[in-house]
Amino acid sequence: MCGIVAYVGHRQAYPVILKGLKRLEYRGYDSAGIALLSDGLKLFKKKGKVAGLEDSLVGENVQGHIGIGHTRWATHGEPSDRNAHPHRSASGKLAMIHNGIIENYGQLKQELLNKGYSFTSDTDTEVLLHFIDDIRENNKCSLEEAIRIALKRVVGAYVIVIVDTESPDTLIAARKGSPLVIGIGKGEHFLASDASPIIEYTKEVVYVNDYELAIIRPDELILKNLGNETLTPFVQKLDLELAAIEKGGYEHFMLKEIFEQPHTIYDCLRGRLELSESKIIMSGVEQHLEQLKNAKRIIMVACGTSWHAGLVAEYIFEELCRVPVEVEYASEFRYRNPIVGPGDVIIAISQSGETADTLVAIEKAKEQGALIFGVLNVVGSSIARISHGGAYTHAGPEIGVASTKAFTAQLAVLTMIALKLGREKGTIDNDRYQRLLTELSLIPEKVQTVLEQAENINSLARKYAQATDFLFLGRGYNFPVALEGALKLKEISYIHAEGYPAAEMKHGPIALVDDTLPVVFVATKDPYHEKIVSNIQEIKARKGKVIAVISEGDETIPQMADDVMYVPACDEILAPMLNVIPLQLLSYYTGVHKGLDVDKPRNLAKSVTVE
Ligand code: G6P
Repeated sequence: MCGIVAYVGHRQAYPVILKGLKRLEYRGYDSAGIALLSDGLKLFKKKGKVAGLEDSLVGENVQGHIGIGHTRWATHGEPSDRNAHPHRSASGKLAMIHNGIIENYGQLKQELLNKGYSFTSDTDTEVLLHFIDDIRENNKCSLEEAIRIALKRVVGAYVIVIVDTESPDTLIAARKGSPLVIGIGKGEHFLASDASPIIEYTKEVVYVNDYELAIIRPDELILKNLGNETLTPFVQKLDLELAAIEKGGYEHFMLKEIFEQPHTIYDCLRGRLELSESKIIMSGVEQHLEQLKNAKRIIMVACGTSWHAGLVAEYIFEELCRVPVEVEYASEFRYRNPIVGPGDVIIAISQSGETADTLVAIEKAKEQGALIFGVLNVVGSSIARISHGGAYTHAGPEIGVASTKAFTAQLAVLTMIALKLGREKGTIDNDRYQRLLTELSLIPEKVQTVLEQAENINSLARKYAQATDFLFLGRGYNFPVALEGALKLKEISYIHAEGYPAAEMKHGPIALVDDTLPVVFVATKDPYHEKIVSNIQEIKARKGKVIAVISEGDETIPQMADDVMYVPACDEILAPMLNVIPLQLLSYYTGVHKGLDVDKPRNLAKSVTVE
């Protein structure tokens, strides 16, 4: 996820673009860059936040009435000045910004290398730009035509915006899969990833659709499809306030991130889960395949929510790969002189890739000869740099302090790794493998179904918001989900909550049960369903209030529970990705009903960089 802004018109482009980039920083802040066209094409790029770019440009000539800007969340190539956008074409005439991933960039790059092109960055963006430039130079065609030809070859998602020294009053943009809004002013046009950089200048906007190309001049907006047919732009009026748009229309980043999960899980699976070939393609796993396959033991090392993802993964890896797995709190693992060495694989799970405890824990294990494999969200982060290899979760920047979409993306990645290794090792039978692959591909739409119940969960949260304690119970794959439900509620609503294996509650927590205690059961259909039904009865016999997350079609639990939240049926291995969603929503709405700052809960930090 990156942010893009572009301007052409009577104003100076630089201040418009700079302000717009600041608004889009929630989309990524690994690096920022601007290209301006006035006396030639000038590019300014800087690793880090937009403010850093701004500081570095004090005293520079930033004149120009046309320009493009980008704030990056790195995917291909670490965050650095050289990988920052905009990129410049080999001819020197074009500069381009890009939001998305060009999945077949490797193949295109090889073709360009064969033709003698060289690259100044590690990005897929530079590959696409050279490709477009090459088509234009060789075919002696217009830039517009070259873009059309190039995009027909591109696999992946993109919004691109290009400036061209040969047409110094024209921006050309194209979209597939990533968002693009055009703002229409008087003698000026604005382009951006969302409307937040535009709204203070105009309320007239056009949302560009997939496979459309926009040719934009100060007084002209031409919209075409990739077949070169001219389309009529559908001009809409924005009736949103600026503050709302910054959160994409959501009241809080946490809610926005919860609702992004169908997309983030899809993005995580995209290009990796190849259903047609019954394959999982993960280059990070392939690079270390022998060590991963032959691991004596896998140790998941993490903190917080990421640790809960590790616990789910323990069940999955043991089941599908028949390898012993341990799950360690990074802070404990590091300081107890762990027995670890060659043959061990450490899977470090972290959204930020910067958590200090996780970082030092893996440094220690690395010294002792273990393979370090990162499952991380932030590209180029500290943990990424010291890991031997890994797989990114591609969930986009997570701004709400309580982790939501990163957790489900971690589960998706860990599941794919386990499926791939299980297949390679022959520890998973073919039918189950095929079934899990298909079911995994359906998870994004099933998550969407769960999200559609948000209003019911909101009412439920209102009903229980005054409780002082909560218990969360689950068995098997749902035990870590219960832990995560309890953690979310604590973080966001400051209500004391404990997660337990459902059967273990008989050994202590049941003493807390009375008619004021809400007990949340994660009780979807799995092989131990009857057992958890008995546990529910044990709570009801003691007058506890039972709230249950259950599978659609379950007719037993609604008869005994006080309230239920439904999720679609799916294999128990994949169920945590669905079952956690109602619990995220329950915490969110409880925090909101209590009037708390859910995006920045007290005492917490998004990334804990002290031990
Ligand atoms: C902090 C955050 C949590 C997160 C934990 C681990 O406590 O508030 O949301 O789960 O750190 O962070 P990591 O970035 O390593 O996943």
